Amino acid sequence: MSMSNRLHHLLKHMKYRISIFLVLVLFISCDRNPNHPGWTFFPDMEESQAYETWSENPYMPGGKTMVGPVEGTVATHEHAYGFVKTPEDELRAASLENPVAGDFNKEHSQMLYNRYCLICHGPDGNGQGSLFTSGKYPIPPANFHLERAMDKSDGQLFHNIRAGFGVMGPHGFMMSVEDSWHLVNYIRHLQQNTPVEPE
Ligand code: HEC
Repeated sequence: MSMSNRLHHLLKHMKYRISIFLVLVLFISCDRNPNHPGWTFFPDMEESQAYETWSENPYMPGGKTMVGPVEGTVATHEHAYGFVKTPEDELRAASLENPVAGDFNKEHSQMLYNRYCLICHGPDGNGQGSLFTSGKYPIPPANFHLERAMDKSDGQLFHNIRAGFGVMGPHGFMMSVEDSWHLVNYIRHLQQNTPVEPE
């Protein structure tokens, strides 16, 4: 066999092998399980490098990504909420009137509740949210079906949401004043329409 003949033979053989290899790769790359994303070659495209809203953050004071407004400042479209997280101020806020009391919007208020409250207070508002039942958050979130919450006025519930209550932190800075009132409506809806769990 001449030199060029041999080379020709070798190349033909390699082409054959390479084709088999490519077909194999094709089959391996396809995953039959649609719930499994398969192999990730460039995870940067899949996992955000930015800090998520609720994630820990070593660069921020307090270690949280989401921080409240600078003390003493108010968003341009809001007015200052002059009450702080004390039982006295809760009583002062008790007479605040709910401007959307007769305007229950289930879809909107449930969206807010699911976004900000569900994880602790649970779908029925009995304090059995997944963060608590998972054991990651040791303090029992309030059960809205108990007397303490049932007996509160809309203004008091509004105050608890905006300024916080006991160990629960303030949530007012995360949303508009009106949305806090919509959440009060949603708590009322839960109190009237979801089963009361035994203690
Ligand atoms: C990280 C968990 C957590 C989140 C999130 C949370 N809460 Fe709470 N909430 C608590 C805990 C714990 C208490 C009870 C605090 C205490 O007893 O010191 C509480 C108490 C309350 C109370 C007082 C009820 C009563 O019995 O007097 C209201 C009202 C309330 N939460 C509403 C909300 C709403 C509305 C949201 C969403 C905007 C929310 N909470 C988000 C943990 C949470």
